Amino acid sequence: MSISQNTTPLAALLDVFDTLPGAPELRARTYDLLGTGDRPVVDVGCGAGRAVAELSARGVPAIGVDRDEQMIATGRSRHPGADLRVGDAGALPLADGEAGGYRADKVFHDLADPAAALAEARRVLARGGRAVLIGQDWDTLVIDAADGALTRAVVHARADRVTAPRSARAYRALLLDAGFADVTVEVHTLLLPGPEATAMLGGFAAAATRP
Ligand SMILES: C[S@@+](CC[C@H](N)C(=O)[O-])C[C@H]1O[C@@H](n2cnc3c(N)ncnc32)[C@H](O)[C@@H]1O
Repeated sequence: MSISQNTTPLAALLDVFDTLPGAPELRARTYDLLGTGDRPVVDVGCGAGRAVAELSARGVPAIGVDRDEQMIATGRSRHPGADLRVGDAGALPLADGEAGGYRADKVFHDLADPAAALAEARRVLARGGRAVLIGQDWDTLVIDAADGALTRAVVHARADRVTAPRSARAYRALLLDAGFADVTVEVHTLLLPGPEATAMLGGFAAAATRP
């Protein structure tokens, strides 16, 4: 894949991941769960703004927030006119009650203080607003390979380089602890059968061998 001037390496990786078979449907499920309303959805850790653009295309106003200025710049160049803001999940650039929905996709595994992020979610959400968290559990990745011991070692070594590798399995408890009610959990499986998986595994193996 070529990386254009306006695309960061992470944005390029997400372009692959977010277009895998099943990934668009999974995002659509998160949009359905958010519901609709007049107030905007805030997509926290929005990256290059894919979800903000997709929500807007559904007629749902959306604001993207990401701490990485380069990702926001990439998003602005890809989606001119989208409301993309630089900011941290723990101090969102939104007023109290400004958002009708809160969404975070593949973000909470990066957060050292998820409780602080969810306190922010509660602050910016209007009464009755819903939060939808989605992400992979890094310790639960399954690789079809002959050497089981080596496979486990590679998966765990990669997971150990993630700030909060098991955050996805904790979403329910985190949301309940933050005071959210009516918390439900869905488990989905994403298959990576193609060459993208080989590229990703190369990165995993490199992480496993790095001191
Ligand atoms: C794996 S990417 C996912 C991007 C996008 N949500 C998607 O699904 O394509 C994680 C994003 O979260 C952002 N991020 C990580 N920690 C953050 C924080 N504390 N506050 C705001 N954004 C954060 C990163 O800069 C990155 O763009």
